Parts: sequence; structure tokens; C-alpha cells
Amino acid sequence: MNAVTPIPPAPIGLLAELTHRCPLRCPYCSNPLELDRRSAELDTATWQRVLAEAAGLGVLHVHLSGGEPTARQDIVAITRTCAELGLYSNLITSGVAGALDKLDALSEAGLDHVQLSVQAVEAANAERIGGLKNAQPQKFAFAERVTALGLPLTLNAVIHRGNIAEVPALIDLAVRLGAKRLEVAHTQYYGWAYVNRAALMPAKADVDRSIRTVEEARERLKGQLVIDLVVPDYYAKYPKACAGGWGRRLMNVTPTGKVLPCHAAETIPGLEFWHVQDRSLGQIWADSPAFRAYRGTDWMQEPCRSCDRREKDWGGCRCQALALAGDAAATDPACSLSGLHGKVQALAIAESALETAPDYQYRTIGGAPRTAVPEGAPV
Ligand code: SF4
Ligand code: FES
Repeated sequence: MNAVTPIPPAPIGLLAELTHRCPLRCPYCSNPLELDRRSAELDTATWQRVLAEAAGLGVLHVHLSGGEPTARQDIVAITRTCAELGLYSNLITSGVAGALDKLDALSEAGLDHVQLSVQAVEAANAERIGGLKNAQPQKFAFAERVTALGLPLTLNAVIHRGNIAEVPALIDLAVRLGAKRLEVAHTQYYGWAYVNRAALMPAKADVDRSIRTVEEARERLKGQLVIDLVVPDYYAKYPKACAGGWGRRLMNVTPTGKVLPCHAAETIPGLEFWHVQDRSLGQIWADSPAFRAYRGTDWMQEPCRSCDRREKDWGGCRCQALALAGDAAATDPACSLSGLHGKVQALAIAESALETAPDYQYRTIGGAPRTAVPEGAPV
């Protein structure tokens, strides 16, 4: 498909999904509905070889993620390998269960940065969203220890109908916990979030208010707190460059060693993924059919093909195009130039207007969602 598309020099980041195990059960989790089991996870030596290949390829950042990465017994050894290879390591964690017990050792092993998830500020709401009682005090104790160790802390809050009213309080919380950065990330509807879309979709007026709150806080807290804002696709004018553009900046290695161009790529039927057990990361980056499928612009249809934004957003998100348009090569319906954009916005407005949000379908390993996942082109 993309025979002449040049291969970008090197991915900047590697998302290492070390495990799908997680003490939390967030209904917006971007992990696939079919979660990998512990028995199928890569072993320590394979992860260390993958990290060495990443460093050799020119990767700068490794995001140690999951699931909950501290659920792995070898998380300290893996972090130490990152440090020895000169890779900047970012631990993406829920901060609960055994995470605090491992934090000092992780810091000693050379961990560079911590990204802690928060579900809400108000404890009962946070614990309802995350599906775990007593999580909030554990998170706060974890954050306190991160800053005491001198590690830079980012808070990540996924925003949806259930917590959007707490955006001002989340900003105050980030300041109180000594975070350097706060991500106010409106839900992206892949994985479990897609199944729970009707329960999570916020009203447009609330979204607009949250954006104004962030803009005001950015001014007020200049020099103290950086706030990143991810706006919700369904209400956007143009889509985001998902994963920085397909096959351009990121590689995602799953717990079992499959290498993906983005975390939801497995939802696209017919893509062939290569495994780290069979090939080097360099080979996969250059030649994997999945990476080549939507790299560059050759694969684009109209209106993307002749659009002057095509090398800015790279046509948006392939996984969302599949989910909403039934065609992974279509223009992302989040784009106002897509013929489906009006229907997507109408759908978001209708779901957000439901008087009572449906119950969450919590993320679980080995448990299929109660209601069927929409297939094809629901809009
Ligand atoms: Fe981006 Fe395609 Fe929309 Fe143009 S038409 S803004 S390239 S998604
Ligand atoms: Fe796959 Fe956006 S999540 S391209």
C-alpha cells in the first residue's frame, strides 16, 4: 500500500505495556476488551532486550505502563535497565496496591518521572469511578512520597460526565500535591471507553466550561503548574494527530510482545502485527505491515487527500474512523470536513442529554462487557 512512503528516522517514544493486570477498573480504560493474562506476559530478559533495541533505534522516552506496571515483580529491574541505557523513564501508575512499597527502589534505580492517575478529587466519586475502595488515600500518600523523593510528578485526570464538574478542584489538587504538570484529558472513546460512551459523554456546555477553566488556570499558575488539555474529539472541529501520526513517533509493545502503532490498533481487522519474539524493533518499525498500512499520506481518501492539514493531523485517528465510519482509511469523523461529523456531534449531544447515565461496565480481565460493542458504522 505504502511502497514509497519514507520511514521516519526513529520513534521518539516507546509505550511499554508491561502488564494488563490492574487493581483499578476504570470504565474509560484504553486497554483492549480482551486483556492479556499474566501467564502470557513477556519475561524480564525479553523486556530488557526490547529496551536495548529501543535505545539503539534512537528512542528517547519509555513509558512504563499497563495496566498497573508496579504489579510486575521485575519493575525495578526494568527501570534500572532504562537508566543504564540512557532512556528517560516515565512510570504511568495508579499509585495504589503495592505501588508505594516499590517507589523508593524505583527512584534509586533511576526512575525519571511519575505520572499518577486521579479519577476525581472527592474520594467517594473517585473510588466509584476507579472501582476500588480506599484508593484515594493511597494515591495521596503515593504522590507525597514522589515529591519527597524529588521526582517530577504529573497528575493525569481523564475527564467525563462523572467528574467534569471537578476540573477546578483537580487543578487545586495538582497544586496541593506539588505536581509540576496536570493532564486534563477528556475521554478518548476507544477500548472500554467506547463501550461506556453513553455513561461517560459530557454535555457540550460542561466541556466548554472546563476548557475556559483550564485556560484561566494556565494564566494564573504560569511558572508553577503546566496544564495539558486534550479536548474531546466528538465536539472538536479538527481531529488530533493520533499517536503523533500513524507509525511516525511511537511504538506500543503489548504485555505479550505484539508491537502496535497505537494502543487500539488491534481493533482494525486485517492488520498484521509483528512480535518482539520474532523480529527486532528496528525491523518492525521499518517493515511491519501494520506500521506501513497508514504511514504517511498515500493511503488517504478525500477529503484528507487534498486537505492542507493532512501533514498536521495525519487524518486523525484510524481506530476512531473504523469505529464510527466503518472504514479505518476514512477521514476521522471527528473532523468537521467529514460527511459524518454532524451525526457524531448529534450522537454526543443525545448521549450526554440522557437524564440518567447508564451504569459503568467496569474493565475486567476475562469478563466480556454486558452489552455488545457497537460494530461497523454506528453513526
Ligand atoms: Fe485532517 Fe483529513 Fe480533516 Fe483535513 S480532512 S483536517 S487532513 S482529518
Ligand atoms: Fe489507533 Fe488513534 S487510537 S489511530
